[in-house]
Amino acid sequence: MLKTIVLKTNSSCYKIVIGSNIIHGLASNIKQLNIAESIFIISSPKIFGLYGKTIVSGLKHSCINDVGVGIFPDGENNKSWSNYEELLGRVLDFDNGKKKKMTILALGGGVVGDMAGFVASTYRRGVPFVQIPTTMLSAVDSSIGGKTGIDFKRKGKIIKNIVGSFYQPSLVLTDISLQKTLPKKELLNGLSEVIKYGIIKDVELFQFVDKSLKLILGYVPSALEYIIDKSCAIKRDIVQLDEKETKNIRAILNYGHTIGHAIEGAGNFKTNHGEAVAIGMVCEAEIAVKLGLLPKNKCSQIERLISKAGLPVKIEGCSVNSLMETMKYDKKFQKGQNKFILPVDIGKVTVKTGIPEQIIHSVLQTRIVK
Ligand SMILES: NC(=O)c1ccc[n+]([C@@H]2O[C@H](COP(=O)([O-])OP(=O)(O)OC[C@H]3O[C@@H](n4cnc5c(N)ncnc54)[C@H](O)[C@@H]3O)[C@@H](O)[C@H]2O)c1
Repeated sequence: MLKTIVLKTNSSCYKIVIGSNIIHGLASNIKQLNIAESIFIISSPKIFGLYGKTIVSGLKHSCINDVGVGIFPDGENNKSWSNYEELLGRVLDFDNGKKKKMTILALGGGVVGDMAGFVASTYRRGVPFVQIPTTMLSAVDSSIGGKTGIDFKRKGKIIKNIVGSFYQPSLVLTDISLQKTLPKKELLNGLSEVIKYGIIKDVELFQFVDKSLKLILGYVPSALEYIIDKSCAIKRDIVQLDEKETKNIRAILNYGHTIGHAIEGAGNFKTNHGEAVAIGMVCEAEIAVKLGLLPKNKCSQIERLISKAGLPVKIEGCSVNSLMETMKYDKKFQKGQNKFILPVDIGKVTVKTGIPEQIIHSVLQTRIVK
């Protein structure tokens, strides 16, 4: 069944369309918006190889004949300044002198979406862009909310997402059937964020994941559609209240991420984002128990579901001290004070600052695999 979620902010209003085999409706959705006489697709070799032909022929079939393509290699290390510059050049070559309305189309996961969004937000001070997310993570998280950007290397260190903009897409079209080729590890990467949405806002979503795990891990479209729809609606509600993260509302999306980011960073990004957030959610739930905010049995439920999904709950490859040190550089730490999003129930979180270091330390200690 086709689902449409509308996201409205001060700067924009756009549809997130979710369904199976809906990619053929892309051109008509774009035409309704009247944003494209030409389209420049940004993608990766793998994704464009899988779905590029279908998309280009669908656009041409609907008389959007002027289509350009810019491909850059897969992987976080390619969300780089040099690829951004290269893609901008390709867009300029494609668009220059045409005086046509041009839309940039992101076809891929979060790496492609973040890069394409940043190119769109900066080329000619902003041209419309459309997201076609192809990973679970990009479907439930990165394609919506308007955060675009790239990583930047300075003094030999890569700083993730440090250069970017808030720039909302004009349309997000999530065709679940594109996920049938997604490797299981990538499905789990996004499922971790779905479980997060359940814990921060929606006990029913949490229970659904628990009850329907087999269907989800079996890529059954109705199950995937349900979790994507619910997750997008939660993110939409939060983004609408706090588009640019200035009101402490959008911060709740960072549950599991304070420790999660430290695990990624201290372990030199050997643990992927979803896995790191999964461990982070368990650790942060344990901190909530130690502070008397969350009943122990709820914490056990969180750990049980994460583990049942096949996501890790133990930290490998870094020490407690390196985690504590890395955490100090987290953007959520201000004036030396730590800040955590902690569950008080399944479906509800609170923001806490200044948590005693020994509590965090003792939780991490029990989670490290020696
Ligand atoms: N903008 C935001 O709000 C936001 C939020 C969360 C994460 N992010 C960013 O998202 C990025 C991670 O995104 P991701 O998890 O989607 O990873 P990704 O974009 O790196 O994709 C992961 C892998 O899956 C492959 N893939 C993608 N779709 C596929 C498909 N349908 N079939 C087969 N293979 C497929 C890709 O080729 C790639 O190898 C990070 O850079 C992160 O910073 C941004």
